[in-house]
Amino acid sequence: MANPFTPTFGTSPALLVGRTPVIEEFGYALDAGPGAPGRALLLSGQRGVGKTALLNELEDEARRHGWVVISETALPGLVERISTDHLPRLLAEQDPRGKTRHRLSGITAPARLGGVSFDPEERHKRTPSIRSQLTELTDLLEQHHTGVVLTIDELSTDTLADLQLIAATVQHLFRENRAVAVIMAGLPQSVEALLDASGITFLRRALHHPLGAVSRDDVREGLTVPVEGAGRSWTGQALDTAVESTRGYPYMLQLVGFHAFRIADGTGERVIGEKAVGRAVERAIRDVSNLVHRPTISSLTAVEVAFLQAMAEDDGPSAMRDIAERMGKTPVYVAQYRRRLLDKHIIAAPAHGLVMLAMPGMREHLRAGPGGGSVHFW
Ligand SMILES: Nc1ncnc2c1ncn2[C@@H]1O[C@H](COP(=O)(O)OP(=O)(O)OP(=O)(O)O)[C@@H](O)[C@H]1O
Ligand SMILES: [Mg+2]
Repeated sequence: MANPFTPTFGTSPALLVGRTPVIEEFGYALDAGPGAPGRALLLSGQRGVGKTALLNELEDEARRHGWVVISETALPGLVERISTDHLPRLLAEQDPRGKTRHRLSGITAPARLGGVSFDPEERHKRTPSIRSQLTELTDLLEQHHTGVVLTIDELSTDTLADLQLIAATVQHLFRENRAVAVIMAGLPQSVEALLDASGITFLRRALHHPLGAVSRDDVREGLTVPVEGAGRSWTGQALDTAVESTRGYPYMLQLVGFHAFRIADGTGERVIGEKAVGRAVERAIRDVSNLVHRPTISSLTAVEVAFLQAMAEDDGPSAMRDIAERMGKTPVYVAQYRRRLLDKHIIAAPAHGLVMLAMPGMREHLRAGPGGGSVHFW
């Protein structure tokens, strides 16, 4: 039986929960005309919180409004790909003089072929700047009262120059009241680094949605609807346990759902019970450990890890003075590491003098120790 959960990065879930206000606001901004604030969006959030899934959904929303989409990742060569790949293709598709037209539904083009056969791809290939290409594209789209959305995932200062150029270009197009929208997404520390970088003031004016936990009701819906869609169900208690185990973390939602469904399916049960959920949660924590926490920890220094180990002794938030004592260091010394870990969004400060681990499952990962989960030969 097909499993209705999708615990894979970058994959759109069967049911995307908790992001409706962002999607609706974006849809409104597309219809509201140039100058609507929601036409420049910035999404930030931890690994697995659902930035890419939301980007996918916002792209779908744009298409539903008849807009065309350029979907990209902030990897080297970004501007070149937009300029030599996406824009020539879109211009060719939208060009009324083109031979092969993949036009927006319900729109008829004036027949102006005049016996001359153009290759639209060829005609637009050597257009030099993305500004002139986007200007031409928005001119073509304006006839249909639609526009173009540019999405850029995995923001990073590695492609700073490209992002600066894109930001400057979009800013010009905004000023000219052109139908353009831009959505950028990245990890909190990458987004902060970009906001600090010179020349990206445009980004500072974008509507910023820091993505975090989804609510209990949303998790409940996200676990129930896909299971019921597959003709299965949860016992009340199993569902409660599953909901709480996720702590509102969307990746964990998919993992717990996936494993619980799989385990129940394996034993031929149509109702997912406590036992299946118990095993599913254990397995989900292991997956989060391997795919999220292990790479995070391996990017830290030994003292930063020691700080986190000291925190992991507590079942909840840790007092800074306890951490200093456990590490055998002065409060001034440990305060530096508190700052660094806060900047990397690995810990949070819920109240004065207290710190807590930001991500679900991090405590369990740290407690398992360096060899936790690794394979041994006898
Ligand atoms: N709102 C949501 N409701 C239900 N599931 C979600 C939601 N958002 C994301 N997911 C699921 O969570 C997982 C992680 O999502 P996604 O890959 O979008 O995260 P991300 O923030 O882009 O992570 P990364 O920083 O690693 O790129 C995926 O399995 C996805 O299907
Ligand atoms: Mg992603």
